[in-house]
Amino acid sequence: MAFTLPALKYAKNAFSGFLSENTFNFHHGKHLQTYIDTTNKLVAGSDYEGKSLVDIVMTSSGPLFNNAAQAFNHEFYFNCISPETNVQVPEKLLKLIELNFESFEAFKEKFCASAVGNFGSGWTWLMQTGTNKLKIMNTSNAGNPMVDGFTPLLTVDVWEHAYYLDYQNRRADYVKDFFNHIDWNFVASNLKD
Ligand SMILES: [Fe+2]
Repeated sequence: MAFTLPALKYAKNAFSGFLSENTFNFHHGKHLQTYIDTTNKLVAGSDYEGKSLVDIVMTSSGPLFNNAAQAFNHEFYFNCISPETNVQVPEKLLKLIELNFESFEAFKEKFCASAVGNFGSGWTWLMQTGTNKLKIMNTSNAGNPMVDGFTPLLTVDVWEHAYYLDYQNRRADYVKDFFNHIDWNFVASNLKD
């Protein structure tokens, strides 16, 4: 069965002062739709037919990997944000962040600095690398920590198309506002024991 555009869990105009409805119209409605359409075209008639998106990301390369991983990464990213600001971090996750980064503030600084400094187009991730082990990683283009055996918990899209309509070249401001809109319940739900 062909992949379809995943619904957003909030209204496209719900993020006043952060991302506009216009950004969602393009980023979700056009960019993500194109990655999904292209994945479907490349999968049709191939050995990948019937496989899950994750399976395709884990086992493909070249254009199929690029489009399937972008489809996965975008759905994940749209789930990482909430119209609510400063959502409370669930206790288990908060303790893990403090264990791995000394304090929540230190984590915030490191994550935002990584995202601002991620050269070109890519993604900045918080990922789980083992029991009680968290790490920040930058990937370029469609890169995803799953292919290195790690569990993605949180991601911010730093491709210019994610923020240019609202922030132009001000990536640092976009990253700061992104951080205030993280859906920490979704992030915590990705933890593995
Ligand atoms: Fe994007």
